[in-house]
Formats: sequence, structure tokens, C-alpha cells
Amino acid sequence: MNVNIVKDKAAIAKMAYDIMLDMINSKDEVTLGLATGSSPEGIYELFRKNKPNVSHVTTVNLDEYIGLDAEHDQSYAYFMNKHLFHHLNFKQTFLPNGMNSDFAGECAHYDEILEENTPDLQLLGIGNNGHIAFNEPGMSFELTTNVAELAPATVEANSRYFASHDDVPKTAFSMGIKSIMQAKEILLIASGVGKAEAIKGMLEGPVTNQMPASILQQHPKVTVIIDEDAASLLSKK
Ligand code: F6R
Repeated sequence: MNVNIVKDKAAIAKMAYDIMLDMINSKDEVTLGLATGSSPEGIYELFRKNKPNVSHVTTVNLDEYIGLDAEHDQSYAYFMNKHLFHHLNFKQTFLPNGMNSDFAGECAHYDEILEENTPDLQLLGIGNNGHIAFNEPGMSFELTTNVAELAPATVEANSRYFASHDDVPKTAFSMGIKSIMQAKEILLIASGVGKAEAIKGMLEGPVTNQMPASILQQHPKVTVIIDEDAASLLSKK
């Protein structure tokens, strides 16, 4: 893995944006895998500011809460529209449909979308507990799109966006680890001391589903961009 330790969130966003832009400009048809959450906000701000041409770019998002529609201000569809999709001319954008009550059907449908639109570059954040997308500790590395049960630590972390803890959805449609590992290239970003343990486990720990992001050690092309706080527990820098 190619690990870059930079000064702060702004530096992470700039470096990640440049890598994504290079990919966008590298060929006629591009698929980007995208993430939500606080980590990518600075990157999407740079997209809004610079408005690169993305008319040849298809996007596939990692996940969506079950039970929230695109009008709900905490759904990931709403987040993506607000931060990115309403501002640029993407060719096509895909997220799982959180309102589909046919769970197996929605997972199979999203797997088909991913098969046709395998990311050239997948952007990832990481949870404090090492999750990527909503693949929580203990979940199988063999899963494709699945109905993920959010770990209590994830519900707690995400409750900052909801009126109360009880309002946080407890399940989500999520790309599985197997789906994520299909991406040709992966870009993982993280900042803050809260992520330090997960970053250490991902980079220096054994590959185990107790630390889902550790599987990335087995992907051929991963770039990690973190700030000094997120890197603070690493033994090698
Ligand atoms: C979001 C996602 C999650 C987040 C992770 C970190 O689509 O799949 O895995 O990347 O929970 O969230 P933030 O960036 O808010 O710390």
C-alpha cells in the first residue's frame, strides 16, 4: 500500500482530489466508486469549486441506509445530491435504493450494477472500528452487496447527524468486501485521532475480519492518505 501522511484535512482533500481528477482525465469512460460521511466532504467541495468535466463519468456509491429515501436529509442519496451530483454533469450515478423492501432483490440488482460499472477508482473512508462501507467487524470477506447491521459503535458515531440515537437506522445496503476488492484501484482517506487505531490495524495488523479494512493489504493498488493524528499509532512512518 502506498501510504501518505499529510498535514491536515485540507491536504488530504487536495491530494485525493488530484488523484481522482487524474483518473477522470485518463480515459473516455470512467467509473468512480464514492463514499459519504465527513471524510470526503473536502474532496467534494473541490469538485464543486473546480467543476471538472465529468460527463463521461459514472459513479457507484458504497452504501445507503435502509428506510431513508432521497428526500430524507440524512440519506446518503441526499448527501450525494447536495455535495456533488446537483453541481456537476455526471453521466450516471448509482446508490442502493434504501426504500426497496425486497432486500435480496435490491442486493442482487446492485451487484448487477457493480458488475457493469466496476470502479476504476474506489474512494473509501474508514470507521473508528475499521469498517469500510458498512462491513463491520466479524462480517465475511466473501460478501457482495448485503444488508449490513450497523455495529453499536457505528450507530453511536453516526448519531451525531441525527436528532437522537434512536433515529439512526440500524441497517444499510452496503457493498460487501468482495465488491470493494473488485475495484481496480482504491483510495482510502482518514483524519483525526479517532481513526488512529483503525489505521494501525489496517496497515500493521493481521488480515482479519475483526478489522475489515485490513483486507486492503491484499489489494494490488491502494493509496492511503491520512493526517498526522490518524497516523499517530503507526510504528513505521
Ligand atoms: C460512508 C461509509 C462509511 C464511512 C465511515 C467513516 O459511505 O461507507 O464507511 O466512510 O463510517 O465515516 P466518516 O468519514 O464520517 O468518519
